[in-house]
Amino acid sequence: MNPFLDTLAGQTAEHTPIWLMRQAGRYLPEYRALKERYAFWQLVRTPELAAEVTLQPLRRFELDAAILFQDIMTPLPAMGVELDFEPGPVIARPVRSASAAAALRVPHPEEIAPFAAEAIRMVRKSTATPLIGFAGAPLTLAAYLVEGSGSKDFATFRAFLHREPATLHTLLDKLTQTGIAYLKTQVEAGAQAIQLFDSWAGLHDERAFREFGLPYVKRTFDALGGLGVPRIYLAVAAGHLYPAIAELACEAISIDWRTPLSVVRGQLPGKVLQGNLDPSALLAPRARLLEAADRVLAEGAGGPHVFNLGHGVMPQTDPDSVQVLVDHVHSYQRDQRPHGQTAEQATVAS
Ligand code: CP3
Repeated sequence: MNPFLDTLAGQTAEHTPIWLMRQAGRYLPEYRALKERYAFWQLVRTPELAAEVTLQPLRRFELDAAILFQDIMTPLPAMGVELDFEPGPVIARPVRSASAAAALRVPHPEEIAPFAAEAIRMVRKSTATPLIGFAGAPLTLAAYLVEGSGSKDFATFRAFLHREPATLHTLLDKLTQTGIAYLKTQVEAGAQAIQLFDSWAGLHDERAFREFGLPYVKRTFDALGGLGVPRIYLAVAAGHLYPAIAELACEAISIDWRTPLSVVRGQLPGKVLQGNLDPSALLAPRARLLEAADRVLAEGAGGPHVFNLGHGVMPQTDPDSVQVLVDHVHSYQRDQRPHGQTAEQATVAS
């Protein structure tokens, strides 16, 4: 009996579960305090520290899931990629040729990120809250590798996609093999759900997504299907891609704030929906935040729903607003039922 895992299994939970993308990070003073003592890579690569940062938001808020503190870039150094964070990822030598793609290694599973597996084991020993493992989707990782850093429109990467489609497929294949091995390692270490972050999928039209994005996400989810953990897919700004995304063999789709859950529900039959409060609502006055949260709860009510943001928590967010949101989501269903009824009585009565 766990609200997060039950909901991902398509069952009704006692309350709508809530966790937030980027719930561990810069908006928390205790994270910033650690960042004064350690570089980002040290936090990521030291299991005790990665476990500590994973647990920080759970100590403050009654979240229904933890997400492992790592980055979508975590598996790349083992492939031979040199990168740093400033604070976003910066690739020392962007991959822009067939020879650069050929030079990337597909590492042995144990070499990819042993520190992440160790951090997972430590978190599992410290909390009963379910732990989510994650990886970047191949198309999003390729966007950073080719562009060399974050970008508003990833123009270099999109030009590369048109100019060197065969090289891009080589790159995507290697990222997919590495990603599958990395995610399997996380599940073996104890991750109880996995999420694939495709933050930049929405840059592409449906044709390009069907050629360069979807097949690699499919392969990843198919490879993880036998492991018994629910699979969540996040694509940002991807309203135009939902007909394609509906074909994925995963349990849940995380929706950004641009499309109401009630609209998406019909486009994604059989899927659990996760989302989709606009992260900027957490910067709004309390009444406005709660109003926006209620709208998301109402729109999500047509089927299994895991409450989340439409994208990550912004660094300027006040932790007190997160507190207000988490408590509100947990009290929501109780408040909708006639006074004094239990969840079971309400179900029988309806
Ligand atoms: O709390 C969590 O969600 C777990 C940790 C996590 C981080 N990155 C830690 C981090 C997760 C799930 C990610 C995913 C990630 N990383 C994505 C996909 C989700 C998304 O937001 O679209 C992407 C695109 C990245 C790449 C990345 N890493 C960027 C763009 C940045 C820059 C700043 C930022 O926070 O967005 C990073 C660095 C990073 N990753 C930080 C954290 C806490 C900040 C580093 C710092 O403290 O200086």
